[in-house]
Amino acid sequence: MPTIVPLSAVDPQLVEDLLDRAFEPERRRRTSYRIREGTDWLPPLSFAALDDADWLIGTIQVWPVALSDPAGRAHPLLMVGPVAVLPGHQGEGYGKAMMAAALGAIDPAAPLPQVLIGDAAYYGPFGFVEAPQGWRCPGQWDPARLLVRCEHPSILPPEGMLGPWKD
Ligand SMILES: CC(C)(COP(=O)(O)OP(=O)(O)OC[C@H]1O[C@@H](n2cnc3c(N)ncnc32)[C@H](O)[C@@H]1OP(=O)(O)O)[C@@H](O)C(=O)NCCC(=O)NCCS
Repeated sequence: MPTIVPLSAVDPQLVEDLLDRAFEPERRRRTSYRIREGTDWLPPLSFAALDDADWLIGTIQVWPVALSDPAGRAHPLLMVGPVAVLPGHQGEGYGKAMMAAALGAIDPAAPLPQVLIGDAAYYGPFGFVEAPQGWRCPGQWDPARLLVRCEHPSILPPEGMLGPWKD
């Protein structure tokens, strides 16, 4: 059974090492990195998964991002990811446990819509659906993989550019 702990309890270098093992070496060039560039992951919403011997097996990070609409208004969103599980431990439930922890930590009284770039087949069961067609990214993206989760999708701006949240 995975133990889920706050990501802030884990040495940041171990997190980077795990991400290097779960993703390709060019991971930092991904469009998702550009969307959240310059922001810090949110400690209350970011988690790690440990195995029975307390080894780090997986991580999930959630970031403050925004969709800037054509009028220049910034709509705050939460960006989920990367979700990463060590090769060799994938398919053992760590990913689902971390997703449940992160989504469950979002305040139900004031939930922000959540966005990610990933496989609809994996994230669909958590409530993620394709983002509005007018949403754009600062880099290449596959519209079928730009996903959003929102209790009331009708409130989502139909158009805009994703980028980091700036105060
Ligand atoms: C994607 C990832 C986070 C899933 O975590 P995991 O711990 O392996 O997955 P879980 O054990 O929680 O869930 C396994 C289930 O998800 C399915 N699944 C795993 N990856 C999938 C994918 N990319 N697309 C569709 N389904 C997927 C499995 O088939 C399995 O289905 P089942 O429960 O019906 O048998 C993990 O495999 C990983 O780190 N992959 C490499 C990095 C990556 O691609 N991260 C996602 C992009 S941010």
